[in-house]
Amino acid sequence: MKFYVRTYGCQMNVADSDEMGRHLQARGLVQTEDMDEASVLLVNTCTVRQHAEDRAFSEIGRLKKWKLRQAGRKVVITGCAAERTKEYLENRFPHIDLVVGAKSIEDFGRIVDGLLERRDTDEDLEYAIPATNDRVSAFVTIMRGCNYSCTYCIVPYVRGRESYHPMEQILSEVRDRVAEGAREITLLGQTVNSYHRDGSKGRDTDFADLLENVAAVDGVERIRFISPHPYYMTDRVIDTMANVPQVCESLHLPVQSGSTPILRKMLRNYTREQYLKLIDKLRAAMPGMTISTDIIVGFPGETDEDFRQTLSLIEEAQFDWGFIFKYSTREGTPAAALESFSHELIEERHRECLAVVDRIALEKRQKLLGSQQEVLIEENTFGRTRTNYKAQVTGNVLPGETVRVEVTNAQRTTIEGKVV
Ligand code: 5AD
Ligand code: SF4
Repeated sequence: MKFYVRTYGCQMNVADSDEMGRHLQARGLVQTEDMDEASVLLVNTCTVRQHAEDRAFSEIGRLKKWKLRQAGRKVVITGCAAERTKEYLENRFPHIDLVVGAKSIEDFGRIVDGLLERRDTDEDLEYAIPATNDRVSAFVTIMRGCNYSCTYCIVPYVRGRESYHPMEQILSEVRDRVAEGAREITLLGQTVNSYHRDGSKGRDTDFADLLENVAAVDGVERIRFISPHPYYMTDRVIDTMANVPQVCESLHLPVQSGSTPILRKMLRNYTREQYLKLIDKLRAAMPGMTISTDIIVGFPGETDEDFRQTLSLIEEAQFDWGFIFKYSTREGTPAAALESFSHELIEERHRECLAVVDRIALEKRQKLLGSQQEVLIEENTFGRTRTNYKAQVTGNVLPGETVRVEVTNAQRTTIEGKVV
């Protein structure tokens, strides 16, 4: 029996899809990239913005036909939109067999057992050795949930409060991924650097300790983490990043807005000045590092002046790339009670913001022309630099190999280079 997975949303969802896939493989199912071969179809949904949810729902609607084409097919809907709208989904789409919300991902194995026993036909279970995941770059979830309550954000409602995986579990997952061929580990959590646990060292074991311990696992060549919250970007974490060679010189640090009054209304827990100071510290500790960000435009009450502050912060921070999001009202969040702006205004600000981010991103990439970069090959001739630029290389390379590459083109988001 084969299963197919469709994933929407963030890296956390990608990691959750992998985890659910491993549960299915442990039960003898084989993953396929072809929907027509599959008997179980899993759609892992996102609800962070309305657009993401709409896309998943229209796909779920289309799955009715897929299901009818062969007896015994199962449709499983998981993730954040599943958590938020469980009842609606079950009523609106009777062809769904199972809904597993984001808070229940860790119970997925047990929940899915029930579904697999409920087979209505006697299809052959095509038992196979579970496929090993041979990805060079692997995700390891270290915490779930979020204790923040940013006023625009639905995540704390659908993923719940923070819980941390024990250090030993994390390290053993890292070892498993390395044994399967991973060379790069990306630690994942909603506010990944808030990680802490009572340790035996007489003080809390924190995110910096975790970085050190992951780096000590044999075979780990690179470490990344997403997404950190600026509030927990302590000096100790910065020093550890700078001193542990495996930790890459790249950070995705969501700022959301460049205006202190808006940051306050968002309950972000830092000011514009504190954020910029943090960027300075990071760049001083790791010269040449790349920093990227998330920005929301059109948050309720964002004045023209607030918006200019965001544009000027982008200039000051010199982000290497960034994701600009149009504010999307999420029912049940505090900001949903505030009056929202017209689509036109949000579109306009989005365009303007994107133009600034893209201009700076291109300028920064072009500075790479002629430079040499260390690229870890992930698939075919595709890899990433330590600074997290995607790179297309010419030369004889194998997945898992680290090569030095001279950059020959840096116009697009994927830079090009030749092996030296
Ligand atoms: N509207 C628009 N963007 C949002 N994000 C989170 N919630 C919303 C929302 N309601 C963005 C934030 C976050 C990223 C993952 O999604 O920028 O960092
Ligand atoms: Fe949402 Fe804020 Fe938590 Fe990030 S830190 S998941 S934006 S509530």
